[in-house]
Amino acid sequence: MLTIYLVFLAIIYNTNCGDSYLPPYIQPCEYHSDNFVNCVKTQMKNSLSEFTKGIPELGVPSIDPVKLDDIKIDGNGLKLSFTGAEMHGLRGSELTDFKLNLGNGPETFSLTFKSNMSLTAKYEIDGRILILPIQGKGDAVILTQNVEVSLDCKLSHVNDALGEHLKLSSPNYKYNIEKTTFDLKNLFNGNKQLADTTLQFANENWQQLMDELAPPVIKQIVKTTIKTINKFFANVTIQRIIKGYSRKS
Ligand SMILES: *[C@@H]1O[C@H](CO)[C@@H](O)[C@H](O)[C@H]1NC(C)=O
Ligand SMILES: *[C@@H]1O[C@H](CO)[C@@H](O)[C@H](O)[C@H]1NC(C)=O
Repeated sequence: MLTIYLVFLAIIYNTNCGDSYLPPYIQPCEYHSDNFVNCVKTQMKNSLSEFTKGIPELGVPSIDPVKLDDIKIDGNGLKLSFTGAEMHGLRGSELTDFKLNLGNGPETFSLTFKSNMSLTAKYEIDGRILILPIQGKGDAVILTQNVEVSLDCKLSHVNDALGEHLKLSSPNYKYNIEKTTFDLKNLFNGNKQLADTTLQFANENWQQLMDELAPPVIKQIVKTTIKTINKFFANVTIQRIIKGYSRKS
């Protein structure tokens, strides 16, 4: 009997806990206010760097770094693979645009963020960049400057035992990268002269390499970001994050 009682208490406690906790840096905005969307935008701007560290209390993982799946590129005379890749730097993101449409027609959630990021990985490369042969295997550090990603999602509502939650789906995105610098250690088995010349050439023609490399990386960053925001949404009800929210029927 006592066990059942304790289990029951535990369930109530967990349920309450799941919906009452919000990190102190998130201040719910008032839904019935002309300033609602702007308030959410300011909230997002201010809490972005904390949010990327994760919220263990809500089962939200950190996204700095983002662990990437292995990347394999084979085309245009170049074979390139990255394993154990991690993207660092989302913590320093700036929110440069935000739009939210909630409660009026099709519901959408759009955000644009800009950051300086670095990718670390074990690389293997063999082939040519334009005309220049390149070959090697070792540690790679790739610095990308002012990567801007714009993300448009549909916003839907899901219900569970806790209540009503928001959920992002059907992402569309585009991106722009201002500059990339590659540092590939141990090119040509450590032949420094050959390595330095080739790396310089690769860096002068970074756009060529990034045309192949950026799409799979950005895709994974977008996927991880949305998954993480949805983890947050799944553990807080709409009423918990938006003051005075009620659904129009
Ligand atoms: C909610 O947070 C708890 C940790 O407090 C976590 O174990 C659980 O997976 C989260 N639920 C969802 C739906 O993400
Ligand atoms: C990225 O770094 C450059 C050069 O240091 C700096 O001018 C820029 O403001 C940084 N961008 C972001 C989004 O932090």
